[in-house]
Amino acid sequence: MSASESRWGGGYVTDVPYLPGYYRHQSPLHLHLACLLGGVAGLDLGPGSPLSYLELGCGHGFGALALAVCNPCWRVTGIDFNPAHIAAARALAAEAGINNARFIEADLAMLMDGPVAREVPEADVATAHGLWSWVTDPVRAGVVRLLATKVRPGGVVQLSYNALPGWQGALGMQRLLREAGERLAARSDRQAEVGIEVVRALADAKAHHLSGLPFVESLLEHARHCQTTYLAHEYMIEAWRPCFHADVVAAMAEAKLDWVASAHLIENFSSLMLGEEARTVLARFDDPVMRELVKDMCLPRSLRQDVFVRGAHHLSPTERDDALGKVMLGLLCSEERLAWEFEVPSGRAALEQGFFGPIVASLEQHPRLVSDLLALPDLPRHDNPGEIVGMLVGTDQALPILAAPGQPDPRVARFNRLAAQRFVRQGNLNTGMALAASGTGAPVPCPMLDLFVVARLQEAQAPDPAAWAAKLGTGQPEAERERLRAFIERLIAERAPIWQRLGVLDAGCLSAL
Ligand SMILES: C[S@@+](CC[C@H](N)C(=O)[O-])C[C@H]1O[C@@H](n2cnc3c(N)ncnc32)[C@H](O)[C@@H]1O
Repeated sequence: MSASESRWGGGYVTDVPYLPGYYRHQSPLHLHLACLLGGVAGLDLGPGSPLSYLELGCGHGFGALALAVCNPCWRVTGIDFNPAHIAAARALAAEAGINNARFIEADLAMLMDGPVAREVPEADVATAHGLWSWVTDPVRAGVVRLLATKVRPGGVVQLSYNALPGWQGALGMQRLLREAGERLAARSDRQAEVGIEVVRALADAKAHHLSGLPFVESLLEHARHCQTTYLAHEYMIEAWRPCFHADVVAAMAEAKLDWVASAHLIENFSSLMLGEEARTVLARFDDPVMRELVKDMCLPRSLRQDVFVRGAHHLSPTERDDALGKVMLGLLCSEERLAWEFEVPSGRAALEQGFFGPIVASLEQHPRLVSDLLALPDLPRHDNPGEIVGMLVGTDQALPILAAPGQPDPRVARFNRLAAQRFVRQGNLNTGMALAASGTGAPVPCPMLDLFVVARLQEAQAPDPAAWAAKLGTGQPEAERERLRAFIERLIAERAPIWQRLGVLDAGCLSAL
């Protein structure tokens, strides 16, 4: 039997498991901000408030579990049709002592037709990262039926998907890669490697539809660093079909879901996305779907992060600002490392020093409510909470949290340690993961290496970067291990205060540093 004959996933890759990862855009705290920036009411969030969170296509469940362990009063449900994913998620939950997360093995195409539907609770928030544009029409229809039935009125939905026209130039490349790979009777990750090699060879041969294209260059560059398992899930899927935003909006309308914003917060600021001329065209339209099409035509946006609400309640500007004022932010970097300028599609954006200087200095001390930041005496103006949230969270330099860190929760430390044990590998130290935190309700996004270092700091009497680098760099040249040692030392010096500020490490761990 060939590899493809043994597959049961309806064209979705099932012979190699997906990789664990954390996507901050799926966090309900983040989605609440997106709703507010979109001018609609978000979620009723607070420390100790219950919330039902549902993740469709949850993979290993790492993101769902990180949210569950940080929020013991939430009810978290993950659904995936790959039994290997569900088994891994359940095993981690059991070992970490997480009892507010449940994982259901089900095919979304059929779930709502059978008895398993009753096991899916009503959801305040439902997310699906990397699912919609990779599955067949029957699965999409199943997703819509599930959202229509299970998302409560006022509930929030996040969908990320490959978008058109952003992907149009790469359709041929994906087809070539997949077809060439499939000619090989082998596992999907091997097939992806072979397919990429054919893309490379034809691009070198100056094939008209491949040569000199940014997409092809980025694939080939990505393939050099990235694990082939990921590439298999990205490119070897028969059903893969990028979509226009308008078509996704139409599908979601069947579940009475209104598009409200981008979960990529910066994208909600047209002035940062479009130049003046394009903004003049944008201003001709007030229909949000048409406005998004204008933006999609202008931006190299290949992955959309859409947020929908089931019955959006529009806020007045004052109501919106009041709600944004109640958001608590924690700084994800040191004041010294803050990026004051950054690239945006319309050019270079800069944070106004006079305004953001005191705000960042204050956040470096403690997490603060946005309303308290706006009341700081030395600000030149005391308005625009959306700017604070959009610029600091939108550039991944601050994190929305529910409360300042609480008492260290032993389950949090156990989860971080177990996640490090399970997932850290020599080749994946840059993978985007998260650290669970006590009392804040918010996992802290980080590279895989941070998970390793925090787990070690939790266990160690004293940090030992040389021994840790030797373990991580087993089989690597001495110079590489030395580079890693120096890197870990710097990482601890820079990030330990942040880990403490955000409830990842307690003072006891830090006193050993
Ligand atoms: C790209 S992965 C994303 C995983 C996870 N959300 C993450 O971001 O780490 C898509 C997931 O959807 C699951 N999936 C694909 N088709 C499905 C279906 N018909 N029913 C349920 N799950 C499905 C896959 O097994 C895979 O775990």
